Amino acid sequence: MPDFRFRRLRQTPVMRSLVRETHLRREDLILPIFIEEDIAAAVTVESMPGVFRYPESELPAVVQRAWQRGIRAVLLFGVSTHKDGEGSDTWADDGLMARMIGAAKAAQPQMLVISDNCFCEYTDHGHCGVLCNGDVDNDATLENLQLQALVAARAGVDMIAPSGMMDGMVAVIREALDEAGFAQLPIMSYSTKFASAFYGPFRDAVDSSFKGTRDSYQMDPANGREALAESLQDDMEGADLLMVKPGIAYLDVIANIRRHSDRPLAVYHVSGEYAMIKAAAAAGVIDEKAIVLETMTAFKRAGADLIITYYAELLSDWLAE
Ligand code: PBG
Ligand code: ZN
Repeated sequence: MPDFRFRRLRQTPVMRSLVRETHLRREDLILPIFIEEDIAAAVTVESMPGVFRYPESELPAVVQRAWQRGIRAVLLFGVSTHKDGEGSDTWADDGLMARMIGAAKAAQPQMLVISDNCFCEYTDHGHCGVLCNGDVDNDATLENLQLQALVAARAGVDMIAPSGMMDGMVAVIREALDEAGFAQLPIMSYSTKFASAFYGPFRDAVDSSFKGTRDSYQMDPANGREALAESLQDDMEGADLLMVKPGIAYLDVIANIRRHSDRPLAVYHVSGEYAMIKAAAAAGVIDEKAIVLETMTAFKRAGADLIITYYAELLSDWLAE
């Protein structure tokens, strides 16, 4: 005879639902949106069916559609044609970042608009900051990040999301925002971001000129202790939300940060993770909806509160069913 019968609580859907520990909600979802300068029509991202780079003119409609489908937060990425060595377009008050934020807020003022704060889509070399002797200069990049965050703040952004993995980025952005009267503006740090091959489809889509690696600033996927330390450091510097990126290969990191920090935690389900599911679904070897629901539930079970995903709209539809 078994010591204990776990199967007692698995007998009916109602019983199983009664004891379910983890719940996915539409409110958990954040939709990334890519806006490219100087394109006339939306461009398909080949390896990511359902994902597009939109022209600026379509941003209002994209935001409104997301709102109608139940999405309440978007993460804006700009792909600039005004590139230079520093990514100075990001701190121009009429630059792409400022214009995207303004347009998104105007289209749907209640939408929570988050800006991805980095330089890689705005520098001619494609790195996430200023280059010095072939490597990104951390502290010079911090100063530019302050300028960029202030431009985003003045444009009306609801949350700043620095993604470049520069040391000290949260502290300096917090300081700049506070001094300029934006003490209430939250920071969601890409606090533990790995140098991952799972970014492949995204880089194919937007970074075609980028040939290097980001190994000198993004984290080594092999390092679990450092992964925790990175997020705890951003927590101490004043990050309002933390993040792990990518997701599926890093559930242990999510769980570990959850145990050691009380901040809300986001996970970024990245392009490669999306592309793999789409490709397997197209090949007819998996059930797309079931796989996506299982993956997202696993993120929450591991300890994530929020999920940034290209599946946000589809998931929102599924969760409403
Ligand atoms: C760079 C950036 C990355 C992604 C978005 N902005 C990572 C990278 O290229 O190193 C990846 C997004 C994805 O793969 O979905 N700051
Ligand atoms: Zn970057």
